Amino acid sequence: MGNSINPIVWQDDRVLLIDQTRLPLEYETVKVNDYKAMATAIQTMIVRGAPAIGVSAAYGMYLGAREIEADDKSVFMERLQAIAKILSETRPTAVNLFWAIDLMVQTAAAATGTMAEIKALLLETAKKIHREDVETCQTIGDHGLAVLPQTPEKLTILTHCNAGALATAGYGTAVGVIRSAWRDDRLARVYADETRPRLQGSKLTTWECVQEGIPVTQICDNMAAHCMKEGRIDAVVVGADRIAANGDAANKIGTYSLAIAAKAHNIPFYVAAPLSTVDFSLNEGSQIPIEERNPKEVYQVGETRICPKGVDFYNPAFDVTPANLIAAIITEKGAVSPEQLIQLKS
Ligand code: MRU
Repeated sequence: MGNSINPIVWQDDRVLLIDQTRLPLEYETVKVNDYKAMATAIQTMIVRGAPAIGVSAAYGMYLGAREIEADDKSVFMERLQAIAKILSETRPTAVNLFWAIDLMVQTAAAATGTMAEIKALLLETAKKIHREDVETCQTIGDHGLAVLPQTPEKLTILTHCNAGALATAGYGTAVGVIRSAWRDDRLARVYADETRPRLQGSKLTTWECVQEGIPVTQICDNMAAHCMKEGRIDAVVVGADRIAANGDAANKIGTYSLAIAAKAHNIPFYVAAPLSTVDFSLNEGSQIPIEERNPKEVYQVGETRICPKGVDFYNPAFDVTPANLIAAIITEKGAVSPEQLIQLKS
């Protein structure tokens, strides 16, 4: 179970992406034939979610590499770096993007052989990143079971944004933990924050739960603390876009206030993420770049403006939850406290 949603597919020498801007009302796939189209897909959030962005960027690097006509390796590398730059300027916060692009550049730099062989190796590397992400998510999901509250009753878990199959190569991180709990009959229900302004919770997480038959209740973001006070929530599990070495974790805007509310109600707050989301080069969360998006996302619903003219807007897409509010970070190498995270550095 749990891997029927494939947001990224390599087929017929191109990438097929589920268009996440159209779900849940329309299920459409977009064909991506070249790296510029991939950059646009990441920027416009046709594909989104930290690991999914990483996998897509890796394919984008290959799509770019195969267009390079050069016999000389140094010319090839120069052009590949230019493609890497364009792909890395699409979104600033999720470190998986830079991790995957860097891995592709390093692979090409270290490769010997003909240009055709190097290009073939880059495709294999992108496919490996893709394949391993699904396995990593399944492992994260299972490690999550060890740290979730061990109660005789089934759990109700609150999650924010979409850290599901759609946000990864499949299965999900936070939703991966939820899927594993559901599989093992330890889950009663999911509460999904709607996640203003782009509504990934109400559009995507609820859609995934419905596909899997997992009972789900959608709430507006500002209802979470109230639900906690009412005793409806046993645990909060979220994903992350970048985690600093000290365990501070950047995730979708609204995650921080959820962590504060969880602390106030003695509810454990977990971050589930692959190690490719950990940026060991940053000591703490204040160093994580926070994407600011178009204010239209705040003042429009669809194409309709809902605020008067003359108002100023601020639209940060992510916030940073300090490590002291996080009970455990659930990775493919096991669940650790934020202080122990540094021990997982390889
Ligand atoms: O802006 P988005 O939709 O790309 O943000 C996604 C999130 O914040 C997710 O929680 C995070 O990337 C983890 S995905 C497994």
